[in-house]
This record gives sequence, structure tokens and C-alpha cells, in this order.
Amino acid sequence: MKFTDSTNDQLENTLAGILGGDKQNMEVDLFATTDDEADKEQDDFTNEICDVENAQEKDRVDLETPVFEEDEDGRNAVIKVRNLYKIYKVGTNKVRALNGVDFNVYEGEFCAIVGTSGSGKSTLLNMLAGLEKPTKGEIVIADNHIEKMNENQLVKFRRENVGFIFQSFNLIGTMDALENVALPLTFRGIPKMLRLKRAMKMLRLVGLKEHAKHRPNQMSGGQQQRVGMARALVVNPKIMFADEPTGNLDSRTSKEMMNLMRTIVNEQKKTLVMVTHDDSLAAIADKVIRIVDGKIVDIEDRSTRSFGGNE
Ligand SMILES: Nc1ncnc2c1ncn2[C@@H]1O[C@H](COP(=O)(O)OP(=O)(O)OP(=O)(O)O)[C@@H](O)[C@H]1O
Ligand SMILES: [Mg+2]
Repeated sequence: MKFTDSTNDQLENTLAGILGGDKQNMEVDLFATTDDEADKEQDDFTNEICDVENAQEKDRVDLETPVFEEDEDGRNAVIKVRNLYKIYKVGTNKVRALNGVDFNVYEGEFCAIVGTSGSGKSTLLNMLAGLEKPTKGEIVIADNHIEKMNENQLVKFRRENVGFIFQSFNLIGTMDALENVALPLTFRGIPKMLRLKRAMKMLRLVGLKEHAKHRPNQMSGGQQQRVGMARALVVNPKIMFADEPTGNLDSRTSKEMMNLMRTIVNEQKKTLVMVTHDDSLAAIADKVIRIVDGKIVDIEDRSTRSFGGNE
């Protein structure tokens, strides 16, 4: 089949997590003009943040210097988050979606971010993926400062390093499973036969070899999500991000999906950051980060490698 520009545009949006214009317009402007001054004076916290931002502006050259200490236990932190804030301005209100967050994710780790609705999970994942800019703080992924990248750098970084799995699958309805999985490879100038071969290998990995010719509406939710997973894996990313990947699945299928993710992290040596509100699903992760009102309240390291599912 022919991959048209509009198909590419759709995937661009998909991989970019469908950049929310409204969200961007509402966020606190990092380089705010004097129009906001009066408002700032009524909010000490925002003043403090703006001071930091202004200082960072002046010292922009110095910011290139690495700021992170070595990990004392020798583990390789593939994601480092420091002092991360995200403040949205809605009318005269300021929502502290992330209120000072620090953590590491290590190479090969399955990390679950758990919290109730509105706790800041998606905000955090969107920051990690460079889909939104933090108000303050640092995010270093594979030695790249995400918060300092421009949009072009971010698009390139995501294409080369990151795979996304979405709650709503985000498959392209006019393409079959094989074509959906192969699509990210079109950006890499890989010949069609090779694209399809790699895509088929990924479909086999997620147990959907027999469904290669099925379109999304000819598959169950669980099958569609496995296609989504194969598509995330096809570019062989170092890191995978999943926001409520089982949010549209029943509990049995959710557990199967968790087991598959666990197997893939282990066998393909991926680092996975998954957001969920479901504590019982997070139990399969190596690390569980609990977030309440934009703050981390607990980081739990686990060694669980199997899940009490229903295989
Ligand atoms: N674009 C935005 N503008 C204003 N406030 C926002 C915006 N996005 C998120 N928020 C607010 O930030 C807080 C965290 O939202 P977030 O979407 O990160 O929560 P969540 O933990 O992912 O919730 P859920 O489980 O319902 O998906 C919420 O109070 C939310 O209302
Ligand atoms: Mg969310």
C-alpha cells in the first residue's frame, strides 16, 4: 500500500500524543510578559518560579553543564527527574499539577506511576515524553535534557528513542494490523519489504500473527492494544511510555496485557513507564511511584517477576 502524506500526518499526531493546543495556551508562560505581573504578585509561589526561570534565562549557557550526581549504586538511570513543577493557569486559578517531583528510572525497569484521577499522572508522563514543557525543573532521558529541546529536536528524539502505548490504542482504521505496526518505519526510509517483515516479527511477538490482515474494527480491544504495543516496539525504542494502557480493557484482558508488557520488558530489555490508577495492575512493576496532588508520596521497589493473572 501507499503511505500518503495525510497518513503520515496522522501518525505524527499519534506519536506526538496529539499535542493539545488548549493545554498549551492555558499553561503558565515561562517567559511571561509584564501583563502577568499584577497576577504574580498575588501568588508568592508563582513569583518564586518565575525568578528561577528568569535566572535560568540569564545563565542559559551554564545550563549545558551536567547537574546530576553519579548513582551511588552504579545503576544506570535512563530517566532522571529533578524538582519538576507544572502549573496550569485556568482563569485566575493556578493548578499545581506537578508540585516538586524527583525520581529516577533505571535501565530495564518496569516503572508504574499510580494515583487517583487528577493526581498528575498524565501530566508527568507528558513531561517525560516532551509533549508538554515543565514550568520548572529538569528531565534527563538518556543524557538528553528534554526540557531544553525545541519542537524539532523533540520530534526526532521521540522517533528515535521512545515508543508510546495509548489508552485508546490510536490505530489507523483504514490500515490492517500489519500496516499499522509498520507505519513508524516509514519515517526511517526503510524499504517496504523490510518494514513489513519487521512488523510481522512484532505481531508474532505479541501473539497476533494470525491477525495481520485484520483492521482495527475487526479485532477485540485486547488485540488492538497488542497491535499498539507491536507498533511501539517496531522501531526498537529504548524507552516505552504507556498512559492507562488497559483503561479501555476488561480486567481479565488487562491482566493479560500486563503480563505481556512484563515479558516484553524482560525479554526485549526495554525500560517502561506506565501510568495507571489501578494498584493491583501496578503490582507487576519493578518500581511503583505513588503520586497524590502532584507530589510523590511513596516510591516502592519490587522484585516481582510474575503476576497472579489468569494465563
Ligand atoms: N491543560 C490543563 N489545564 C489546566 N489544568 C490541567 C490541564 N491538564 C491537567 N490539568 C489539571 O492538572 C491536574 C492533573 O491532571 P492529570 O491529567 O495529570 O491527572 P491524572 O492523574 O492523569 O488523572 P486521570 O487518572 O483522570 O487521567 C488535574 O487537577 C487537572 O485538572
Ligand atoms: Mg490521566
